[in-house]
Amino acid sequence: MEEKDTLIEVKNLSKFFDVNKGMFAKKKSYVKAVDDVSFIIKKGETLGIVGESGCGKTTMGRTLLKLYEPTAGEIIYNGKDIANLKNNEMLPYRRKMQMIFQDPYASLNSRMSIGDIIAEPIEIHKLMNKIERLERVRYLLNKVGLNPEDVRRYPHEFSGGQRQRIGIARALAVQPEFIVCDEPISALDVSIQAQVVNMLEDLQDDLGLTYLFIAHDLSMVKHISNKIGVMYLGKLVEIAESNELYKNPLHPYTKALLSAIPVPDPDMALQNKRIMLEGEIPSPIDPPEGCRFRGRCKYAMPMCAEAQPELKDMGGEHKVACFLY
Ligand SMILES: Nc1ncnc2c1ncn2[C@@H]1O[C@H](COP(=O)(O)OP(=O)(O)O)[C@@H](O)[C@H]1O
Ligand SMILES: [Mg+2]
Repeated sequence: MEEKDTLIEVKNLSKFFDVNKGMFAKKKSYVKAVDDVSFIIKKGETLGIVGESGCGKTTMGRTLLKLYEPTAGEIIYNGKDIANLKNNEMLPYRRKMQMIFQDPYASLNSRMSIGDIIAEPIEIHKLMNKIERLERVRYLLNKVGLNPEDVRRYPHEFSGGQRQRIGIARALAVQPEFIVCDEPISALDVSIQAQVVNMLEDLQDDLGLTYLFIAHDLSMVKHISNKIGVMYLGKLVEIAESNELYKNPLHPYTKALLSAIPVPDPDMALQNKRIMLEGEIPSPIDPPEGCRFRGRCKYAMPMCAEAQPELKDMGGEHKVACFLY
């Protein structure tokens, strides 16, 4: 197998939000939304990221694109650390790195025609004249399976799936290399989720795109991802090649997430008893010491309260952060 080049290497990336309420607060409190996360994404590949709502997926995507200033860590894009670049130095990277949003209703400006919505990033980056821009918008509409004649129509005239296609066309407008897809199908009807994922895969092959594909459960990411990372309360707890993660999940949290996927075969469903997660997700504000999952983990040992498990390489690029290993 040909060894692919790395597009993005994230090293010890953290994003904490300061949540000090009121000026008399005695001690600073932080939401540790992303806490010391490291991974690599290779050119033309997809890293899937899964985890329950609130575990830091969106924050990680936005921090990677420098829509949030990282609290600590490195974001090495094509060999250059962009974590501390100033806004003006970020400009060429802003073009190369785009985002597709979860909510196709809230993410499109309802007062702009879809032509203007898609053309806006081209205008911002001053890349084309008016005629070239219109030509590009028509090309993009066609590319995402919409009618190029619809440029003057408005978002409310389109269905959820069509709006997500408009959001994808907008993300593609300035010929990006890397796209953070933040739960792009979660808000869509089940019947059209596969269409949108298939389209994203076709676009990836066609345009050589690299994706970070965020989802809240494992059933949505298996097909599109080369590798999958599992997040829990700001931490990356396991990462592996996609098939490997499904065949050989190691972290108790990953096992629980996998057991929550409905199995079509009833005999299998009986065998694969659903593992219920006990307890509540702790608050990401001043999260528990030690392993953050220990309060819900049936294998928790005394040492889990004492130290945080580091991501450990189990071979074959399968890494897990758990004291069982
Ligand atoms: N701008 C913000 N200010 C303060 N806290 C935030 C902000 N954005 C997200 N958070 C908190 O960070 C944590 C992770 O949120 P988020 O990244 O949206 O998770 P996910 O996308 O996995 O649902 C949550 O506890 C959330 O409340
Ligand atoms: Mg989110």
